[in-house]
Amino acid sequence: MTTRGITRRQLLLATGGAALLSQVPIGLALGHSRDGAKAPAFIEDLIAKMTLQEKAGQLTLFGAAMQNGAAAAANPVTSTGAVSAQIAAAKAGQLTGVFNSSNVLYHERLQKAAMQGRLKIPMIFAADVIHGFTTVFPVPLGESASFEPELARRTARAAGMEASSVGIDWTFAPMVDIARDARWGRGVEGSGEDVLLGKRMADARVRGFQGERGLADPEAVVACPKHFCAYGAAEGGLDYNTTDVSERVLRQTYFPPFQSGFDAGAMTTMASFNEISGIPATGNKWLLDDVLRGEWDFRGVVVSDYTGDEELIAHGYARDGRDATRLAILAGVDMSMQSGLYLKYLPELVESGEVPMEVVDRSVRRVLQLKAQLGLFDDPFRRIKPQAPSRQRLPDTLALAREAARKSVVLLKNEGDVLPLRASGQRIALIGPLAQDWDSTKGPWTLFGGDDSASDLATGLKQAMADASQLSVTAGCGYEKALDGGVDDAVQAAKAADVVVMAIGESRDDSGEARSRTSITVPQVQLDLLAAVAATGKPVVVVLSNGRALALADLLPNAKAVLVSWYLGSSSGLGLADVLFGAHGPSGRLPVSFPREAGQVPYYYDHKITGRPDPHPEKLTAFKTRYMTSPNAALFPFGFGLTYGQIEYGALDLGDARLAADGTLTVRATVHNRGSRDAEEVVQLYLHDRAASITRPKQELKDFKKVAIAAGASVQVEFSLRRSDLLFVGQDLKPTVEPGTFDLWVAPSAEVDGLHATFELLA
Ligand code: BGC
Repeated sequence: MTTRGITRRQLLLATGGAALLSQVPIGLALGHSRDGAKAPAFIEDLIAKMTLQEKAGQLTLFGAAMQNGAAAAANPVTSTGAVSAQIAAAKAGQLTGVFNSSNVLYHERLQKAAMQGRLKIPMIFAADVIHGFTTVFPVPLGESASFEPELARRTARAAGMEASSVGIDWTFAPMVDIARDARWGRGVEGSGEDVLLGKRMADARVRGFQGERGLADPEAVVACPKHFCAYGAAEGGLDYNTTDVSERVLRQTYFPPFQSGFDAGAMTTMASFNEISGIPATGNKWLLDDVLRGEWDFRGVVVSDYTGDEELIAHGYARDGRDATRLAILAGVDMSMQSGLYLKYLPELVESGEVPMEVVDRSVRRVLQLKAQLGLFDDPFRRIKPQAPSRQRLPDTLALAREAARKSVVLLKNEGDVLPLRASGQRIALIGPLAQDWDSTKGPWTLFGGDDSASDLATGLKQAMADASQLSVTAGCGYEKALDGGVDDAVQAAKAADVVVMAIGESRDDSGEARSRTSITVPQVQLDLLAAVAATGKPVVVVLSNGRALALADLLPNAKAVLVSWYLGSSSGLGLADVLFGAHGPSGRLPVSFPREAGQVPYYYDHKITGRPDPHPEKLTAFKTRYMTSPNAALFPFGFGLTYGQIEYGALDLGDARLAADGTLTVRATVHNRGSRDAEEVVQLYLHDRAASITRPKQELKDFKKVAIAAGASVQVEFSLRRSDLLFVGQDLKPTVEPGTFDLWVAPSAEVDGLHATFELLA
């Protein structure tokens, strides 16, 4: 195989190492550490020269001792003493790098210290760049609602460019955990419940962060699909909780987005906090070595999560810190984040023979190769640009944030076409705790966001209105608490208006890490406010903020229209105004099913059918798979979202409806827009395998296409299905496919009929 005229063999044999290595395009990066083969000579030379303590230092990552703003709150270690100690550690080769500083001058100081060290091994700078850097893009779950991987690639690229300008080499993103339990707070960081959407978003985000010019590009940041693995399967939706997932479900559901991220070239991953069926991921050799490195040939670096190695003790898997170190490194965790355990115990574990030197060398080799790929041996300061602060906010990123914001919005209801609003001749009362709360619209994990407070919803609406004096703004209540006189003020404001926009929902603190909830409804005080306002008889448009699927049954009767806005980031208000006033129609689709009640979770559309499916969800049939109190279907299923057009699914054509073993089945569907406004429709293709040696889900998304359909127009959407699209994890846990009959739907969402047909997969 050649890459830019360089053969892989030449790369392996190269002695001029660093420069050559940093030219390796992403996806073809060197590694070969699994089989213990040598790295380029300069890396082997370094390893030969390193003391055991220096090797342990290369495998030790700490939170930056000097941090700014929100990052300091997330990793609270700042103190002057800690700063000088950290600089000394960098110089002494006791530290591989730091994370979550956006302080370019601090990065420069640390790198200079490392360059004064004995071996001059550059530091690596990591950060949680989750959905933007200075410019905050919609939370990943929201952005996934766009069903537009290319948008996710572009926002990740922009975030990578902004972050790299302060010296950040490595982002702890994307989070690719499939999340099916709305109680879990971290679903907001990922792409939702679906495997295909998760795979496409993982691919796009990795390519976005890493860019197209190779990891050595000063504007590239290496990606870290996390958390490996099954973190989202936490029992009860409780963060950090135990998971017990079969190997089949791991392979079918939780692994694929990771594989997609690695196929896109991600060179790092993070071991998850949770245990899987009795073995914590951080000590799980099967997961990290056999599967990740063995089966998938992953050549990059595995980092623990924050003190994840030390937590093996609390899990009851390790006896003490020394044991935890041994278990983690032997399982395949190359780098220890924040506990300091590797630094403390690796040398003595090697000396006592409990950890072979080759194991430590292998991890050090991986880390040094990553640093070489990032171009850090060529120029340790390549991303540290204190003289270029303007690069921390790129000129086009706010426009991109606005595009991403409007594309992330999902319209759930629009009775009587109350939306779009009119920019003139309509008095609007904006009511609710989110009306002017810019800070909340940033969402969780915004450690570095700039001040874009001018993009709250009130400001966005005013800018779009012909006469801003036609807008009144009233909080009405807090997120969880009533305000004195708040309801009265809101009711007065509603009475004086023609239409009400209620900005309600969850605050940014309701989702994110350690933010699991047992209730997934809008807080009662806000529902009460909504009811009081709706009682005025004025039409109410609800703009929801949320980091999870919500149960909306109590809210719907009081809302003529509902828009799901998640947390939209730096251009939140402007992006929302684009949709509310119809400059751009809503085009987002739910990446997670919205159940009727919290009692249904974990809920996901691609569940199994069971032996007793419910034949009539609308009435209670005894001894069927349903709750006594409610049918077990979503209120708003995965993939759901309305437009301002009037979409109708027309004809479906599958040709002879036979798919030969090596053939392609072409599926053509006609979709009409019978309305008077242009629309963008996400046309979705679902399959069900009627009989298989492993029971198959009721439906699985196999492809989707987002198409623009002008008012009154029709489009034909074409999908191609191949045998590989029908693979599943067979009885032997290997991918398999079996001939037989398949149901196929081309539909506007899961769980609706849309256009239905069947086809045969031939032997
Ligand atoms: C989170 C990770 C994050 C790390 C570093 C942990 O608590 O689980 O997702 O990357 O902290 O901030």
